[in-house]
Amino acid sequence: MTDPYKSVPIRSSEITPRHVYLSRRDFMKAAGLATGAALLTACAPSAADLPGNTKPVPVSNATDELGDPVNSYGDITSYNNYYEFTTDKQQVSKEARSFTTTPWTVEVGGLVNKPKTFGIEDLLKDFTQEERIYRLRCVEAWSMVIPWEGFTLASLLKAVEPTSDAKYVRFETIYRPEEMPGQKSPFYEWPYQEGLRLDEAMNDLTLLATGLYGEPNVPQNGAPLRLVVPWKYGFKSIKSIVKIELVAEQPATLWNDIAPNEYGFYANVNPDVDHPRWSQASERRIGELNRRPSLLFNGYGEQVAGLYVDLDLTSNY
Ligand code: MTE
Repeated sequence: MTDPYKSVPIRSSEITPRHVYLSRRDFMKAAGLATGAALLTACAPSAADLPGNTKPVPVSNATDELGDPVNSYGDITSYNNYYEFTTDKQQVSKEARSFTTTPWTVEVGGLVNKPKTFGIEDLLKDFTQEERIYRLRCVEAWSMVIPWEGFTLASLLKAVEPTSDAKYVRFETIYRPEEMPGQKSPFYEWPYQEGLRLDEAMNDLTLLATGLYGEPNVPQNGAPLRLVVPWKYGFKSIKSIVKIELVAEQPATLWNDIAPNEYGFYANVNPDVDHPRWSQASERRIGELNRRPSLLFNGYGEQVAGLYVDLDLTSNY
């Protein structure tokens, strides 16, 4: 298989190192100069969204392999989907602010030879951390470009040795209603759960993200550990994972359970298959005024189309 990262023109190593981040004062000055542009997006960083409110804001001139610039740190950390906290995208960062992410363990088991519960420190130490710039395309037709850090899900799965009966991977988010007010809603079946076919899980693009922009994940982005599957709609990228299970049958997923006609198991980005309530042909990149056409597999077809040669992508949406 070709290495998809070879073609990234500006590697995320060019993300400004911490010591030369804009100071908060410089950032506010720059933000002032860019007021016109900032008004175009509901997600421009407000002072309250800056990390810790006193820390300098990480900045980056990096682009993805299609030449699109990464979204600002403020965009990525202030416009989120995380229903365990709230359904209001612009309030997630506030509601999640005091979520406890240490200590944290991830139980990896099911149909494996070597089940193991990993501390988050072991995952950071024992698995090769990489930086990768990925597009995130939400099913609601907005998108962002995010410089993630993390390690491949494949490297973790190989360590626990899936048996030949394992065909799918099931993921589970933490259940902690005392800190996650959304989990008191009886409308959703908590904990949030998601799934991938084993070959999707083993694909080199599939990442377990531990941070972004050179910083550890913040709660609103799924701290300390979240999945990133860049060719699928964002809801597959489950946050704050505590359990990963190798299973024989296709696992249930939160959104598929609630509305199977709207959210399929595959959820591959597909401009030709509309959501029953809206078109998926175009998207609004956060920070841009005009919509842009959506790309099959979110533009990662070269790396993943081979996984679906025998699958009808219209009925398996
Ligand atoms: N994971 C959990 N546990 N709960 C959620 O509500 N929302 C999903 C996904 N992972 C969600 C989740 C959806 S719909 C999207 S679009 C992405 O997270 C958003 O990720 P972001 O906020 O980091 O951009």
